[in-house]
Amino acid sequence: MNSSELRTKFLDFFEKRGHKIIPSASLIPKDSTVLFTTAGMQPLVPFLLGEKHPNGKRLVNYQKCLRTDDIEEVGDDTHLTFFEMLGNWSLGDYWKEDSIKWSFEFLTKELNIPIERLAVSCFIGDQNAPKDQESADIWEGLGVKKERIAFLPKKDNWWGPVGDTGPCGPDTEIFYWKLSDTPIPKKFDPTDKNWVEIWNNVFMQYVKDSNGNYSLAEQKNVDTGMGFERTLAVLNGYTNIYQTDLFEPIIKLFPGHFDERKKRIIADHARASMFLISDGVVPSNKDQGYVLRRLLRRMMVHMRELSATELLDPIKKSIEMYKNLYDLDEDKILLVVKEESNKFEKTLATGLKAIEKIDTINGKEAFLLYETYGFPLEVLEEIRVVESREGFFEELKKHQELSRTASAGMFKGGLADHNIETIKLHTAHHLLLAALQEMFGKEVKQKGSNINSERLRIDFSFDRKLTDDEKKRLEDMINEKIQEGLEVIKREMPKEEAEKIGAESEFGVKYGNTVSVYFIGDKKGIIFSKEFCGGPHVNNTSELGKFKIIKEEASSQGVRRIKAILQYKLEGQNVEK
Ligand code: ALA
Repeated sequence: MNSSELRTKFLDFFEKRGHKIIPSASLIPKDSTVLFTTAGMQPLVPFLLGEKHPNGKRLVNYQKCLRTDDIEEVGDDTHLTFFEMLGNWSLGDYWKEDSIKWSFEFLTKELNIPIERLAVSCFIGDQNAPKDQESADIWEGLGVKKERIAFLPKKDNWWGPVGDTGPCGPDTEIFYWKLSDTPIPKKFDPTDKNWVEIWNNVFMQYVKDSNGNYSLAEQKNVDTGMGFERTLAVLNGYTNIYQTDLFEPIIKLFPGHFDERKKRIIADHARASMFLISDGVVPSNKDQGYVLRRLLRRMMVHMRELSATELLDPIKKSIEMYKNLYDLDEDKILLVVKEESNKFEKTLATGLKAIEKIDTINGKEAFLLYETYGFPLEVLEEIRVVESREGFFEELKKHQELSRTASAGMFKGGLADHNIETIKLHTAHHLLLAALQEMFGKEVKQKGSNINSERLRIDFSFDRKLTDDEKKRLEDMINEKIQEGLEVIKREMPKEEAEKIGAESEFGVKYGNTVSVYFIGDKKGIIFSKEFCGGPHVNNTSELGKFKIIKEEASSQGVRRIKAILQYKLEGQNVEK
C-alpha cells in the first residue's frame, strides 16, 4: 500500500460516516505555550472545550506535526521530527462504542489486517479516573481475545493535555505485530517492540487545571491519532520508515553512498525544514527559528560529508512530493534555505578546520564554536565528543535570556521536563553511576547525561565494552538497592564540604558556592550514592520499577554509553525475569 492509498482510504472511510474533512493547521500554534503543533487535536482545543466548530461535530484530517524531543534519535528505524497524523474527532457526539468499532472496522475491513495481528491497551485506573473496562469490553465484543488486551497506567494509557492544562483523558491504543516471518505471540506484551502502536483513541472526558487537578469536562470528545509514516511502514512489512514512498525518493538522491543514517537525517530534516519555512519560520537563534537552523545546518553538514553538492535537491524533492497536499510557498522555501546555506558555508569550512585537532570539547567551548562558526550542538556532537551538554545550554541561556517555557520545550538536554517518570529515571541514573563506580572504581566518571520520560542515558569514562555478566551484575545491584527502599535525601552545603565528602560532580559543570547534594542510603547511615544535583528526585528508591539496561555502546573514544529503563509490573502480566 502506498501513502496516497492509506490517506484516501482513511478520509473516505470517515467521510462516509458523517465526518467533514478539515485542512491541516499550521505547524506553528496560534497560542504559544508550546513551540509546535505536535498532534492533530492541538488546533482543535477550543472546540474540544465546547466552542462550536463551523464544520460540525465529526471531523477528520491529516495534520502536519513536529516533535523535537527525539531529534538525536532521528536516523534510526523509527524516529522522525516531522510527521503526519491521521485523525478523526467527535466533538461531544459519538463515544467509545462507535470510535472503537470504526477503528476496528477500518483496520480489519479497509486495510484487511487479520485480527491475529492486533492487540490493544486500555487505562488501568488511578486516583483521577476509573479503570476503562468499558473499552476493553467493546474490544472483546469485536472479537479481540482477552490475552491481547493489556491494562496499563497513566504513563502509557492517558493522553494530554498538550502543555500544562486542557482536555485529556484515558486512551486505548492499537498495536500491530510487525514481523512476518515468526509466529505471532498469543499474549500481548506491550514491552515487546515488535508490537508497534499504530493508532490511539483518546476519550477526552477530563480537563486538567493549573493546580494539576482533573475535573470532568462538560463535553465528552473522541480524539484519535494514527502515525502515518509508521503505520505505512509496518503495513508494508518494511523494517524502517525510510523505505516508504514518503522518503524513498529523497534517499534515492544519494545513490552509491553507504551511510544510511546520514541519508535518513537529510531526508527527515529536509521535509521538516521545508514545512517550517512554508509556515513562516525563518532561521534565527531562538524558539522555532533556532530549531529550523539546527535542522538545516545538520542537513548541510551531512550533505557535505556525502559530497552532495546540490543542497536544494532534497528540499525540492520534498516540495514536489507534498505540493498537491498542502499549500506550499515554494519560492520562499528555496530562498530561505539558500540564504541560510550561504551564511553557514562562510563559516563552516573555517570551523571544521578549527576543531580538526581537538578530541573533546566542553559545553562552554561548544557554545563558543556555535557563536563563532554557527555549529549547532547536534552537529558538533556528530563530529566530536562534547562533554556536558548542560554547559552549552547554560551559556546559551545566559546569552539569550530565553523565556522559561521556550527553553523548557526546546532543549531537552538534562532534565527539562519534570514529570514523574523522568524524576524516577533521574534517581535511577544516580544509582547507576554509583553502581558503575562500585564495580569499576571511582575513576569512572560521568561524561554526559540525558533523561526523558522513557529512558535514561549516561555517558561515562570507560575504555571497553561491558560483558553480559557485568551488565547483569549492574542491574542486579541496582534492583537490590531499589528493593532495599533506600531514602533519597537532599542537603544544601558549601561546595568545599561537598567536595571533601567526595560527592560526585559532573566534569565541566560550574557550581555555585552553595550546592545541593543528593544522598541515597539506608537508615543506618550507609550511603550508596552522593551527587551534586539540583533534583528533583523520588523520596525512596522503592518507588522505582525494575531497572533494565537496554543498550550499552561506545559513545566516543574512552567513553561508553548506557541506556536504561524502569519497568513496572502490569496487571495480569509478569515483568520478564
Ligand atoms: N492526540 C492523540 C495522540 O497524539 C491521539 O496520540
